Amino acid sequence: MTDRKDLIVGNWKMNATHLDAIQMIQKLHYRLEVEDYDRVDVVVAPPFTALRSAQTVIEADHMLIELGAQNAHWEESGAYTGEVSAPMLAKLAVGYVIVGHSERRQHFEETDQDANRRARAVLANEMTPIVCVGETLEEREEARAEEVGLSQLKGSLARFDVTQLGSIVIAYEPVWAIGTGRTASPDDAGEMASFIRERLVDLGNSEVAASMRILYGGSVNAGNVKDLMAKKHIDGALVGGASLDPDKFAAIVRYRL
Ligand code: 13P
Repeated sequence: MTDRKDLIVGNWKMNATHLDAIQMIQKLHYRLEVEDYDRVDVVVAPPFTALRSAQTVIEADHMLIELGAQNAHWEESGAYTGEVSAPMLAKLAVGYVIVGHSERRQHFEETDQDANRRARAVLANEMTPIVCVGETLEEREEARAEEVGLSQLKGSLARFDVTQLGSIVIAYEPVWAIGTGRTASPDDAGEMASFIRERLVDLGNSEVAASMRILYGGSVNAGNVKDLMAKKHIDGALVGGASLDPDKFAAIVRYRL
């Protein structure tokens, strides 16, 4: 048995206005019981424009839902038109920030070094980075999933000390499973999570690696979550599409082994 508490994060991506967000969060809140939060940390990551409204509704109704953001720049402030900094997010009671998502890598040419700089800024502002890694279909077919995952891990986690490493969440999201309805099999996802944990031992030590949460992401839904979460080294999920529907997301949060 481990004492890692499950973490389920809804990544809304570029969906929902601030008005939609208020409704979605209220609905999610009403569908969850206090006991659900004893078992699972529940996080929603709306677009930047909805964070302030989300924070307000969460605080006003004393909800236990936590707030995440989908990215953060590494500088605190300055001439970076269009960017949002980690201190700005921390001020909005954001607790988690996704970095190195494959869509950032794919569409905005972000690198492991970018993910590393972002994660560093997130940690410096006392939030938890969710560092995403995962192979493309081509890489999996060439049997390079582990090699790619390892190189992304090493690059994104470069030069963190052991204490910092222990404050990071890793999300394994195979690119071919994102938004495709094609989930990695629980065995494949579990093996990759186990591989990642072994590499975290090398990057830190066994104690810190055992304490870190590893999430799976890629077409997670209420029907497949249980088998994925049954895997020893998978400690939660990063959910895209299904997190936009409060009924579906609540059902994912409420899975029972
Ligand atoms: P889907 O759940 O829509 O496949 O998205 C996964 C994801 O990218 C979460 O970050």
